[in-house]
Amino acid sequence: PDHYVVIGNPVAHSKSPYIHAAFAAQTAQALDYQRLLAPLDGFAASVQAFRQQGGKGANVTVPFKLDACALATQLTTRAAAAGAVNTLRFDGDKILGDNTDGIGLVTDIVRNAGVQLQGKRILLLGAGGAARGSLLPLLEQLPAELVIANRTLSKAQELQQLAQQYVTQIPVFARTFSDVDGHFDVIINATSASLQDDVPPLAGSLFDAGTLAYDLMYAAQPTAFLRFAATHGAQCRDGLGMLVEQAAEAFFIWRGVRPDTLTVLADLRQALN
Ligand code: ATR
Repeated sequence: PDHYVVIGNPVAHSKSPYIHAAFAAQTAQALDYQRLLAPLDGFAASVQAFRQQGGKGANVTVPFKLDACALATQLTTRAAAAGAVNTLRFDGDKILGDNTDGIGLVTDIVRNAGVQLQGKRILLLGAGGAARGSLLPLLEQLPAELVIANRTLSKAQELQQLAQQYVTQIPVFARTFSDVDGHFDVIINATSASLQDDVPPLAGSLFDAGTLAYDLMYAAQPTAFLRFAATHGAQCRDGLGMLVEQAAEAFFIWRGVRPDTLTVLADLRQALN
């Protein structure tokens, strides 16, 4: 079989081996997918050793996505825009770097949740790595506008400027949380507030029954953001589908085959509860 790994630190919790094993079984692809714990100062050496052993590709998780971006010899546009790489493909001397997180998010929203983004008002919360990775794939859906809201306004403004380097025809705004108003069709939480069971301080009136509230995080129980959105009548979705869809996109990059994601997502959801 061809060998793949997910590289991280820590990595023991990663669901990627389960997901890729399921995709491989489903599509009859001969591949083996393991976890690889790299030392915090040894990402590049770990990747190179794995390549020497004949590895074909890798997923990259915390805290190495920026290192992977630096290590790649070629980047896709979406990886360059994200400034981060979660998927490496080894091709002779070349190390191809891509980022499938943002397209995973978009696929989960558009296909799995059935919410089109074209012509919609989107609010993106946060301006860190997760928000940056989502930017270009969201804009490629041609929303009516994208508002980036962050605790630190200057970071939202940096993302706004980055966005407009790639896409000029969609209006992008930078705001603090208290300066956001109006109605949004989709509100995406890309802050890390959920890790502290916290919610960005937003007006509840931003949400209504026509709003999809999406949290990039997932857990057995709804995050604080999704609980807040639900009390204001929004439709809620966590990031488990994004996890499966980013994996499917990586699988496609490596194998040229698109697996069925819904059965894997249903199995993961059941295991989570
Ligand atoms: P990640 O890789 O998860 O995006 P990050 O790059 O450290 O992590 O970014 C974290 C994001 O969550 C930032 O937008 C941060 O806001 P600041 O730029 O103002 O620091 C945001 N964040 C973290 N904790 C938060 C909280 N409790 N409430 C609101 N925003 C929070």
